[in-house]
Amino acid sequence: MNKNGTMWLDTDGNPIQAHGGMIEKFDGIYYWYGENKAGETVLKENGLHRVDFIGFSCYSSADCISWKNEGLVLKASDQPGSPLHKSRVGERPKVLYNEKSRKYVMWFHLDSHDYMTAHTGVAVADRPTGPFQFVREMCPNRFDSRDMTLFKDTDGKAYLIYSSDWNKTLRIAQLTDDYLDVNGVYSHAFPEQEREAPAIFIKDGLYYMITSGCTGWEPNNALFGISHNIFSGWKLIGDPCTGENARQTYFGQSTYVFEKDGRHYLMLDHWNPSNLKESGYSILPVRADNGHLTVSFQEYTSL
Ligand code: GAL
Repeated sequence: MNKNGTMWLDTDGNPIQAHGGMIEKFDGIYYWYGENKAGETVLKENGLHRVDFIGFSCYSSADCISWKNEGLVLKASDQPGSPLHKSRVGERPKVLYNEKSRKYVMWFHLDSHDYMTAHTGVAVADRPTGPFQFVREMCPNRFDSRDMTLFKDTDGKAYLIYSSDWNKTLRIAQLTDDYLDVNGVYSHAFPEQEREAPAIFIKDGLYYMITSGCTGWEPNNALFGISHNIFSGWKLIGDPCTGENARQTYFGQSTYVFEKDGRHYLMLDHWNPSNLKESGYSILPVRADNGHLTVSFQEYTSL
């Protein structure tokens, strides 16, 4: 069984390469999408550690415990000038199923190697295991966009939540009915609070958003906010973590909250900046009750 905070192995015994990822259930099977970082980590002149963009992996599981490698579902390109060129940044892929088009739609952070372009990418597939076809690169509603997530509301409307204004403010953009674009309706949350790595869920009609601070690959303390409305009234509440190493989010960073059998779980990345492919994961139970939120560390999570 995989231990929280460490590297995890797939059913072939290889390290799971699905960082900055997400888990969702499509047609009775759980799928885990994330960044494949199985390349060499290099330290760039700007002081940032990076791995060339390889693509996004997918793993599948019936129980959320053993994960089968389904390969790269969106691949980086060697073609000079390609929006998916390996010299660029592709991070935090998130996938939604669109009931109307019956397509799987992936959004992700797409950037230049130095994170100065700050765009979003969109891709689409007929099956959860891809292959995903690249659709577009964009500046959602003309704003810069770095860390991001997707959220599908109970009414089927979907939203892109992204760190914007040089990571000072999170923006919330409604997607078009086919989920392939933004529709121009947008709002923001936590202005000037410098939050990133957003993970959203809804419980008993209340929206919860867990975020990290902006310290690159280094851990910091998580903060969560709540709102009765996806668009307005977001209130920053406090740190959901408790006990030892709570102020460093147990040395992890939020990436997604998923639901299994009526319970919510927070996925964390435990980045290893000098060797990113050896970054670990945690899946921790989330207790949300009437605006209170607690995420406690446990070595092994029973799912
Ligand atoms: C973090 C972000 C990661 C990655 C990293 C690069 O702030 O959450 O997804 O972009 O910076 O330094």
